[in-house]
Amino acid sequence: MNILNTNYDLLPGSYLFSTIAKKIKEYQGTHENADIIRLGIGDVTSPIIPAVIEAMHKAVNEMGVKWTFRGYGPEQGYDFLREAIIRGEYTSRGIDIDPDDVFVSDGSKCDVANIQELFSADAKIAIPDPVYPVYLDSNVMAGRAGTLQADGHFSEVTYLASTAENNFQPDLPKNPVQLIYLCSPNNPTGTVLSRETLQKFVDYANETGAIILFDGAYNCYIRDENLPHSIYEIPGARTCAIEFRSFSKTAGFTGVRCAYTIVPHELGKLRSMWNRRQCTKFNGVSYVTQRAAEAIYTPEGWEQTKAVISGYMETATMIRKELSSCGYTVFGGEHAPYIWWKLPDGEKSFDFFDRLLATCEVVGTPGSGFGPCGEGYFRLTAFGDHEQTKVALQRIKERL
Ligand code: MLT
Repeated sequence: MNILNTNYDLLPGSYLFSTIAKKIKEYQGTHENADIIRLGIGDVTSPIIPAVIEAMHKAVNEMGVKWTFRGYGPEQGYDFLREAIIRGEYTSRGIDIDPDDVFVSDGSKCDVANIQELFSADAKIAIPDPVYPVYLDSNVMAGRAGTLQADGHFSEVTYLASTAENNFQPDLPKNPVQLIYLCSPNNPTGTVLSRETLQKFVDYANETGAIILFDGAYNCYIRDENLPHSIYEIPGARTCAIEFRSFSKTAGFTGVRCAYTIVPHELGKLRSMWNRRQCTKFNGVSYVTQRAAEAIYTPEGWEQTKAVISGYMETATMIRKELSSCGYTVFGGEHAPYIWWKLPDGEKSFDFFDRLLATCEVVGTPGSGFGPCGEGYFRLTAFGDHEQTKVALQRIKERL
């Protein structure tokens, strides 16, 4: 008897960013003095802001005193953080969220991968193409995606092409689906879904009973206040959408780990199922981390956070400008920390990865790793060190 989950055999190769890390290691193995500049994985490089560090120190001290020590916290998160999130993220944009609908977690990656457990094995999914690979991979593991076809598509998945041709505004699914993943600003294209596009998806979901799984991990990079930051700005979203948010990219928490998911009570049973799931499988985020996250929303914390985000966006602007001045076509980087670089002459994105590494010792992420529509594109992150990124761009200008 085979006791293993054979759906794992359906996954092609390793996880995208593990593949990239392996390629870098191999290169370093043969190039002892390699001076590699990493603009691949979207990992932050600016240190944690002082307001957060101060809150962490204070919380650590509390843990060392009998009267303020905390053991297990609520699985859903402490009220002080749930309320701070609502004030800082939602009330300020005119959105009414109940603290009970906020579920604090240790990362959006885990939440977007785990949420599919709430749905039946035969629920049909739609995912944007290209997009963050976790949505697809977690559904492949659950046996919901079918098998990989020669054209790079999984047989049971509906792909929502998000390309330059449709201005990165995907059409509604062509086949009936029950789950729709959306990501805005999109990882990897760095483009934002318009209010009209989101309304179209919300109306579709409410009409058909589908659920939208909305990943807003990069919302704090949107610089145009008129663009939608949250799915709940869209009328009707509360009856059909779950939203994922993260402190990783907002406040440099990729190593600290803290995020939250909103499951509105209008979703009825789904909300209680997520609560049940979290209570059974998760023991909450540490008190110190939650106090750290709370400090982002103090006046000084928010000012410092905005300054770090502006710094990354300066880097994004520089990447866009420099690549454009070399004659390349680029997208994104205006409301997101990712630049989506169109490769000239139809070069394959993994071939370009190797060429860029060999000629410039610069690492990016091949577009095809995010879906078939990503072929012919390459993602650069603006999260790298600004001066190092400048050097990378200089090398690209001179050597490519
Ligand atoms: C990325 O590079 O796409 C992200 O860092 C991955 C993640 O957030 O897990």
